[in-house]
Amino acid sequence: MKIALIGFGTVGQGLAQILRDQAAQLRAQYGFSAEIVAVATRSRGSLVHPAGLNPAALLDAIRAGSLDAYPDTPGLQRAWHSERIARDADADVLVEASPSDLDTGGPALDLCYAALTSGKHVVLANKGPVVVAYAELMAAAQAAGKRLLFEATVMAGTPSLRLALEALAGAEITRARGIINGTTNYILTQMETGMSFDDALAQAQALGYAEADPTADVDGWDAAGKARILSAALFGRTRRFEEMTVEGIRGLTQADIAHASEAGERWKLIAEVTRDAVTVRPVRVPLAHPLAGVSGGTNAITYTTALLGDVTLVGAGAGGVQTGFGLLGDLLALHRCGA
Ligand code: HSE
Repeated sequence: MKIALIGFGTVGQGLAQILRDQAAQLRAQYGFSAEIVAVATRSRGSLVHPAGLNPAALLDAIRAGSLDAYPDTPGLQRAWHSERIARDADADVLVEASPSDLDTGGPALDLCYAALTSGKHVVLANKGPVVVAYAELMAAAQAAGKRLLFEATVMAGTPSLRLALEALAGAEITRARGIINGTTNYILTQMETGMSFDDALAQAQALGYAEADPTADVDGWDAAGKARILSAALFGRTRRFEEMTVEGIRGLTQADIAHASEAGERWKLIAEVTRDAVTVRPVRVPLAHPLAGVSGGTNAITYTTALLGDVTLVGAGAGGVQTGFGLLGDLLALHRCGA
């Protein structure tokens, strides 16, 4: 499978790390072998090689500051812009892992259309295009006879979407509710130990949990974007932010956290998605509640179903390798269906 990768930050590097370290096992166990044939970054260079780029050398180069540090090899081309890569690279799949723009979906959205119309599948960790144009993208994929997959957009590599859409197909999901932002959950967990909000946020950034602009995490928009993806994917209901109740954790003080603790409760940023409404807001949950024990960068989602009752999934919600694994899951899904 030939991969063109847009974005080589925390998540793109996570995927490269997996392909570097797991290649032999993926080939032996699943018959899966992948080559990164192109990588584009916004300001740290881009590379194209039809025979494949070496993931270890890519990681060395970017950690040295720029893909310009990647060694020259015969056939290597530099400085293709991302539009050209999406359209013209000889790749089976475009992987989009650049920062999410939840308002416009851009510039990734145009790259998705370019990739689909030029015969590539699209796999996203970038939430922007799915949040902004879910229905249009699915229609474009169908028209092109290609797949558009986005497991990594909700709860990183923890298979929240695959569980809902595949394993629970037919169980009739009526509600999804849970903790779907790692940064805010990490901040709330650390604040309970007495750490300041700013220090906890700085740690979440250092761990690779936070968005490029962490305002999206702190003010609830990242969770709200994921909730929009869930609403569209589970219920076929595309929503605008204006139709939703969205509140982040910026207003929560150490005193609020202490008061909750004294009452045997804990603040959590909870997203709730039904056919009729989407909300994201901080909620005080009793310590005995299952979501109270979900701490740090861990996320959890409970699907309420008509046939099976509640089904809860707990796992990593953010991080480079964790989100890279979400991309790998989609690539393996493409591989399984012979793409
Ligand atoms: N910033 C996001 C989070 C990353 O903290 O959950 C995963 O989407």
